[in-house]
Order: sequence, then structure tokens, then C-alpha cells
Amino acid sequence: MKRRDLVFVIIIVAVVSGLVYLSIIGKHPQPTVQSIPEHQSLNRDTPRTTCLTCHNPENGTAEKRIKVTHPEKWKDEKFSCIKCHTLKPAAPANAGLGKSDPAH
Ligand code: HEC
Ligand code: HEC
Repeated sequence: MKRRDLVFVIIIVAVVSGLVYLSIIGKHPQPTVQSIPEHQSLNRDTPRTTCLTCHNPENGTAEKRIKVTHPEKWKDEKFSCIKCHTLKPAAPANAGLGKSDPAH
């Protein structure tokens, strides 16, 4: 292998590992968990204004309001919060238990 090729390979490896590193330390949106009572009635069509009654950085009722460090995208009125904070349905309380089989 020529020396120039080796330098090229080293640069590629450095760039790729840099990107992987950034994606690991990067911020990830938490899911909108439906196991908490305040989230139970939400669905994929819930407008962002509903979320903001509780999460508005100024006057939201929830403890966790949008912080100043939050990605600016939340201010985009045409963009749903749920595109980032995916809905995570609560697991049914009796999952797998007490399922009656009508055939028996
Ligand atoms: C572009 C994607 C994106 C959109 C759109 C978005 N969020 Fe977030 N949100 C994030 C990320 C990423 C974090 C984690 C920030 C961190 O780790 O510092 C976060 C964190 C939060 C938090 C925790 C507090 C905080 O600020 O860290 C709340 C509450 C929240 N978002 C609510 C909302 C609501 C309500 C909307 C819609 C009005 C919304 N988000 C829209 C990506 C998004
Ligand atoms: C009725 C009030 C209410 C509404 C409406 C609401 N939330 Fe929440 N949300 C809460 C509460 C309460 C918590 C639990 C943390 C807390 O006490 O602030 C929470 C937690 C969260 C968290 C976790 C934050 C973290 O740092 O772990 C995210 C993300 C979030 N909500 C997103 C949303 C999105 C997106 C919507 C709209 C689709 C929404 N919420 C609508 C009350 C609400």
C-alpha cells in the first residue's frame, strides 16, 4: 500500500469515528410515556398546544417544562412534538394474565 493511501484510510477512519462519537453523546428526545395519568388521553393527532398547556417553559403546569437547552424545533408550529417524543403506550396492567379463551 502506498503511503498516501494509508494517510487517506486514516483520515476516513478518524472522520467516521468522530461521527459515531457525536451520535452517541448527542441529545435524544425522551418518549411520551402513557403510563403517567396526564398522558393517558394523548394520541398521534394531539396538537402541540395541548402539550404546551403543561410543558410551556413559562407557565406549564408540569414539573418538567421545556428548558432553554431544548432543541429550537419545538417552536415550529407546524411540527408535532410527537415526531420527536414518540408516544409510548402504557403496558396493559394485566398483560398476558387472565385472558379468557371463549373456545373453552
Ligand atoms: C426536534 C425534536 C424535538 C421536538 C420537535 C420537540 N422536542 Fe422536546 N426534546 C427533544 C430532545 C432532544 C430533548 C432532550 C433535551 C436534552 O437532553 O437536553 C427534549 C426534551 C424535552 C422535555 C424535557 C425538558 C427539557 O427541555 O429537556 C420536555 C418536557 C419536552 N422535550 C417537551 C416537548 C414538547 C411539549 C414539544 C412540542 C411543543 C417538544 N418537546 C418538541 C426533542 C424535541
Ligand atoms: C395534563 C398535562 C400534560 C400534558 C397535556 C402533556 N404532558 Fe408531558 N408530562 C406531564 C407530566 C406531569 C410529566 C411527568 C414529569 C413532570 O412531573 O413534569 C410529563 C412528562 C413528559 C416528558 C418526559 C420529560 C422527561 O424529562 O422525562 C415528555 C417528553 C413529555 N411529557 C412530552 C409531552 C408531549 C409531547 C405532550 C403532547 C403530546 C405532553 N407531554 C402532554 C404532563 C403533561
